[in-house]
Amino acid sequence: MADFHTLDGFNRSVKNVLITKEEIAEAIAQAGKKIDEWYDGRPILLVSILKGSFVFMADICRAVSVPCEIGFMCAKSYYSGTVSTGVVKITMDLDQDISNYHVVIVEDIIDTGRTLNDVVKMLKARNPLSLRVVTLLDKPERRIVEFKPDLALFTIPDLFVIGYGLDCAEYFRNLPYIAEFNQDT
Ligand code: IMP
Ligand code: MG
Repeated sequence: MADFHTLDGFNRSVKNVLITKEEIAEAIAQAGKKIDEWYDGRPILLVSILKGSFVFMADICRAVSVPCEIGFMCAKSYYSGTVSTGVVKITMDLDQDISNYHVVIVEDIIDTGRTLNDVVKMLKARNPLSLRVVTLLDKPERRIVEFKPDLALFTIPDLFVIGYGLDCAEYFRNLPYIAEFNQDT
């Protein structure tokens, strides 16, 4: 694996750009309209699943026009590298009581489906007024646990991707686009 700590290693880790920042911006504008339609003026709580969705959250919250609060949860499923451990841990929980909210979970990517399956179960048990899931990326080929989001902005093949919040070993979250990670470096 490339040494991400050097600029050269960092740059070589981007194999090719899959989704440009312009394509992401366009899809988010559309998603904002869709969310506005769903709630028709009713207030919502956007719940970002950290860390991967922090960039998407910052953009999607500015693309909706309904009154909106934000909340953050930290769910860890990848501890390092590109392999899932299969264990989902909630390392930081919401500080709101969600029973009075229409909740929209904002996720970066659905891969095996384990993270959202666990998070949705946990949040449904708290009796929100309603619960929907919006994900930036969906990798349906990789599903181990059946899970369908209410909205996926992009469906991608079984590739490990980085950028726009998504990491490999905590690096690359700051890339403005979604790229295929170069596993051969
Ligand atoms: P799941 O529980 O397997 O669906 O995995 C969801 C989490 O795994 C995501 O929120 C990401 O943090 C991480 N993940 C899955 N696929 C990728 C990828 O291609 N690049 C970076 N992170 C990923
Ligand atoms: Mg994530």
